[in-house]
Amino acid sequence: MPYVVTENCIRCKHTNCVSVCPVDCFHEGPTFLAIDPEVCIDCGVCEPECPADAIRPHDRLTEDQLIYVQLNRELAQVWPGIYEQKDPLPDYKKWENVKGKLSELVR
Ligand code: SF4
Ligand code: F3S
Repeated sequence: MPYVVTENCIRCKHTNCVSVCPVDCFHEGPTFLAIDPEVCIDCGVCEPECPADAIRPHDRLTEDQLIYVQLNRELAQVWPGIYEQKDPLPDYKKWENVKGKLSELVR
């Protein structure tokens, strides 16, 4: 069951998750990160590292988070890999805990 980045990441993009992943499976877009499910080894170390609580294993997703399974799979194929932590997006505080951010996911 691969881990999945969900809505809370959008427009925050803290990237703490990147620094702990042992297999470099994160990919970066303009406002969101995606996990490559084919590379993720389900170690789980990224989940507690995310300040936005955006990462979940596939089998603990809520109904409304299921859409992110396919989004992670698809976007990881087209976005470049990210291998080092960097600053979050400048206005991340404004977007913390905002619901319904899917439209802010820029491809
Ligand atoms: Fe990387 Fe492990 Fe997180 Fe998968 S569960 S994305 S392997 S840190
Ligand atoms: Fe996103 Fe959390 Fe990583 S906000 S970039 S999933 S640390």
